[in-house]
Amino acid sequence: MSRVRGKKTGKKIQNVSQERDRYQTPPWAVTPLLPYIEHLPAVWEPAAGDGLLAGELKRVGHHVIASELLRGQNFFTWHPAREWDVLVTNPPFSIKADWMARCYRLQRPFALLMSLDCLGTAEMQGVMKGQELEVIFLDKRINYIVDGVVQNGVPFASCWFTSGLGIGREMTFASVPEPYPLGQMALFDEPETFAQPSLLLEMGI
Ligand SMILES: C[S@@+](CC[C@H](N)C(=O)[O-])C[C@H]1O[C@@H](n2cnc3c(N)ncnc32)[C@H](O)[C@@H]1O
Repeated sequence: MSRVRGKKTGKKIQNVSQERDRYQTPPWAVTPLLPYIEHLPAVWEPAAGDGLLAGELKRVGHHVIASELLRGQNFFTWHPAREWDVLVTNPPFSIKADWMARCYRLQRPFALLMSLDCLGTAEMQGVMKGQELEVIFLDKRINYIVDGVVQNGVPFASCWFTSGLGIGREMTFASVPEPYPLGQMALFDEPETFAQPSLLLEMGI
């Protein structure tokens, strides 16, 4: 068990990946974000899971550094040694407030795919208040993937919470492409691209 505590909530951040936090992102959820990160070639995906989101970013031409707790890389204690321009992920839901707070502390552009409901909680408002925030609202709900299967009927809307991308407006309304068969997904099939512990620095930010 980790000794790390969330600086925002003071909650203990367990060094364990919770099963309910393992929903994977279908590639079509990333499409609406792409025009806004085009100028930021190197992406850090710090909660890469099975690498679906990372795979899509790589497929469209980004240089991707992927890390993941299940591979021993805890976002709260590790940082890639290599340079990156923007952090993009679908973070673990159970620790989203501390996750976003750390993103702001890193002082780099980021985009987090999270539930629209985040805007309505005191905890998340405490993180976002006074910070730069530009939200990309999506015209369709995102059905996430578990064990390779799209879980239809998700009961919440998702949106991209971004900062530092230079979109130039607080609210953007974007279109999500129609889902396509999972067989056509670009998988992140290069395990060597996952950051190795030797490539990471302990920063304690
Ligand atoms: C919602 S899934 C998203 C997976 C991937 N980003 C995607 O969108 O397809 C969240 C992932 O975060 C990982 N995770 C949980 N806590 C973490 C931490 N402290 N540091 C890094 N990864 C963590 C979980 O193991 C899980 O794979």
